[in-house]
Amino acid sequence: MPTLPAAAVIGAGSSGIAAVKALHERGFAVECFECSDRVGGNWVWGNTNGMSSAYHSLHINTSRERMEYTDFPMPKSYPDFPHHTHIARYFDAYVDRFGFRDRIRFQTGVERAARAADGTWELTLDTGETRRYDALLVANGHHWDARWPEPAFPGAEGFEGVQMHSHDYKGEDPEFFRAKHVVVLGMGNSAMDIAVEASFSAEQVYLAARRGAHILPKYLFGRPTDQLGASPKVPFEVRRRIFQGMLKVYLGDMERYGLPKPDHRFGDAHPTISDDILSRMAHGAITAKPNIASLTRDGVRFTDGSEVKADVVVYCTGYKVSFPFFDEGLISAPDNDLPLFRRTFHPEIGNVFFVGLLQPLGAIMPIAEHQSTWIADYLAGRYALPAPAELRADMERERAQMFRRYVRSKRHTMQVDFDDFLAALAKERRKGEARARRDGARLPVTPRAEALGAAGIAR
Ligand SMILES: Cc1cc2nc3c(=O)[nH]c(=O)nc-3n(C[C@H](O)[C@H](O)[C@H](O)COP(=O)(O)OP(=O)(O)OC[C@H]3O[C@@H](n4cnc5c(N)ncnc54)[C@H](O)[C@@H]3O)c2cc1C
Ligand SMILES: NC(=O)c1ccc[n+]([C@@H]2O[C@H](COP(=O)([O-])OP(=O)(O)OC[C@H]3O[C@@H](n4cnc5c(N)ncnc54)[C@H](OP(=O)(O)O)[C@@H]3O)[C@@H](O)[C@H]2O)c1
Repeated sequence: MPTLPAAAVIGAGSSGIAAVKALHERGFAVECFECSDRVGGNWVWGNTNGMSSAYHSLHINTSRERMEYTDFPMPKSYPDFPHHTHIARYFDAYVDRFGFRDRIRFQTGVERAARAADGTWELTLDTGETRRYDALLVANGHHWDARWPEPAFPGAEGFEGVQMHSHDYKGEDPEFFRAKHVVVLGMGNSAMDIAVEASFSAEQVYLAARRGAHILPKYLFGRPTDQLGASPKVPFEVRRRIFQGMLKVYLGDMERYGLPKPDHRFGDAHPTISDDILSRMAHGAITAKPNIASLTRDGVRFTDGSEVKADVVVYCTGYKVSFPFFDEGLISAPDNDLPLFRRTFHPEIGNVFFVGLLQPLGAIMPIAEHQSTWIADYLAGRYALPAPAELRADMERERAQMFRRYVRSKRHTMQVDFDDFLAALAKERRKGEARARRDGARLPVTPRAEALGAAGIAR
């Protein structure tokens, strides 16, 4: 008889590989399905899965030391903010270092994940096979399903230039923006990178936004900015004020560069990080504009009534959280919102887990790693969840805090502060370990799938 539940992982991006490693190391029968021919997901430029949003010039904006897994440092020869090719190579090396490549089935997509009557998960693969698992870990990423402006701007259908989403900008053709009039919409990191890149060859770039942002440089005082965060023991308000003060001294007000005054305090929106945008604006290569009001045959009209000629409009308007393999009624994220206990456990379905489905002020990878060992501890009976009422109250508290703090937007539905989240998680894990000991280390998910002969996977 198997002693542990058999688990499936959907996706072998940076979150999925952390999950497979954690389960594999602890002796679980685990199988990962990955539609691409390699690991790394978003970080594989031109990925054969068609899902990567990486462009040719992409560098990480969370520093190397913040992004690396805790037990696998990135090579010291890497710069602080490596190129996507470095990052994809790093994820690939991680799999070999810990020896679990044979747990991943490449070029195998999960088309459907449904719960059988006994609670096990039945996966239908694009090979036509169906397989059964006791536990399902979802790591399919949340930056691949482009969110276009909805509804489209008036006049969009009659615009004769190119309209594209940042997801489709690959940047392989250095001539793409040459001598063009380009409107980039958005104030997130895609908008920053693409506006800056376009500004070196375009005739003119306009950066349109419906709200301003506190733009962070990659370095402050010679250190990667994300490494300057004070300990979570210091109250958030104090940390916020310190940071805001440093930014004020270093950059001054955003309005000085022609950008809109942010309608929120620093820390109340997902960070927009760019070393170059303000400099390109200062050089006149990028002009700030308010939101798009409408498109004409060959131009864009903005909400302040101004109008410019436009050949290309790039919508850097973010992504949808999508699970095409679940029945929408079972699990979905309308408006990007899927409430979870500490962004990991589903409150009603005890054998489905989410890895990397969060937006940290910091990098996703070390968090995905902690989520993965946490899930493995749970499935092994070494961690027990709080009682349902307590779990729900915890979720509600966390959600209420987040929605109170962040600008109301579909991009702010799963924000976490990196250090605070990990510190709180460590505390919760200690409490849950004590609960599990009291319960006699009972397995919360009964191993059935292997006994049914349906999973049929080797340990
Ligand atoms: C342009 C850009 C830059 C970014 N920069 C940073 C950064 O600097 N730092 C940071 O922390 N985060 C950054 N992010 C966030 C990004 O989400 C993470 O870096 C990281 O890619 C998350 O990894 P993941 O494994 O969760 O998702 P992904 O990297 O998207 O991987 C998901 C994997 O799941 C597979 N998959 C999906 N559906 C299925 C299916 N049905 N069946 C089988 N396989 C499936 C995909 O093929 C893919 O390999 C960036 C995002 C973008 C778009
Ligand atoms: N170099 C890097 O490492 C890098 C580069 C690119 C992206 N990323 C990461 O990738 C993720 C996605 O970033 P992103 O920039 O693509 O998306 P994003 O962070 O979701 O930003 C979307 C932007 O578009 C705006 N927007 C959305 N819908 C709009 C509409 N209908 N009209 C006008 N404006 C609209 C949003 O404004 P509101 O705020 O008002 O909603 C926001 O400014 C983030 O985690 C980001 O950090 C990293």
